[in-house]
Amino acid sequence: LFTGCGDNKEETKTAEAAKPAAAEKFVLKFSHVVSPNTPKGKAADYFEKRLEELSEGRIDVQVYPSSQLYKDNAVLKALKLDSVQMAAPSFSKFGKIVPQLALFDLPFLFKDVDHLHRVQDGEVGQKLKDMVTEKGYVALAFWDNGFKQLSSSKKPLILPEDAEGQKFRIMSSKVLEAQFHAVGGNPQMMPFSEVYSGLQQGVIDAAENPISNIYTKKFHEVQKYLTISDHGYLGYLVVMSQKFWNSLPADLQEDVKQAMKDATDKEREFAAQLNNEQFELIKEYADKTGKLEIINLNEEQKDAWRNAVSKIYPEFYDADNIGEDLIKGALNTK
Ligand code: LMR
Repeated sequence: LFTGCGDNKEETKTAEAAKPAAAEKFVLKFSHVVSPNTPKGKAADYFEKRLEELSEGRIDVQVYPSSQLYKDNAVLKALKLDSVQMAAPSFSKFGKIVPQLALFDLPFLFKDVDHLHRVQDGEVGQKLKDMVTEKGYVALAFWDNGFKQLSSSKKPLILPEDAEGQKFRIMSSKVLEAQFHAVGGNPQMMPFSEVYSGLQQGVIDAAENPISNIYTKKFHEVQKYLTISDHGYLGYLVVMSQKFWNSLPADLQEDVKQAMKDATDKEREFAAQLNNEQFELIKEYADKTGKLEIINLNEEQKDAWRNAVSKIYPEFYDADNIGEDLIKGALNTK
């Protein structure tokens, strides 16, 4: 009887040992800096639900918005250490790791969102992802925000010369620095989480961001003018900690890929929809309060900005910056 019992215990142990992967649970922390009601915020939440559903709860996704966990590029170091497992920093924030991603920051490089998506989904996008992989991250997908608009308080920005002497908040980016120097502006690097107070207190006079970031962080409430310039693009590369990825069994890696594919399709929809909807809300605010003037540039004014800032491209032809092949490759993507 005794022996029998012992045997049974052994059997149970062996059965448990045979299925450790199925029982193992994972926590995936996703850190970002924007509000939940933005393209990135909504897509992160969508990804959370989708992956938890596909993995049947074996991966617990925890999203931390609004710089709660890490500010701007600090998250890239945290990912390396696996202190956080996922992030979607904007391209400029990869400056120290893969400066070539600043390709997407070059002003007036993309004709429209379709052109941008063709570049991201094509050869140029793949090369950039490979560069990020070589640096020890898992490059999952490109996510959209949208085209940036200029906001200011000292003076309305109608022609490039209006930028002269104004202090512009920029992300840490050589391209954005060059962009504002090209129009005589004074670029100041500042983390996203400090932009509202910077504008409110006049530490900076002006800024650039897509409508969705402006609206959800109320930047329009601490600026007097909003110029619809669509001069540059803001988007993200979703990255994962390599250590975390390698720790996942193959079936969960497949679930991550599928959830990311679904979230990316949704993300592009959220980006288009939120930037439009929130622009209407900013217009309502402007009409109601009279505290914000919205400036729509005509073609001639827009050409003046294009000519003034696109002359910076050759400064980035060096392969250690962005590289002529990538810049021309993007421009010529059909
Ligand atoms: C910014 O710093 O302005 C943006 O990168 C914020 C973001 O992630 O959209």
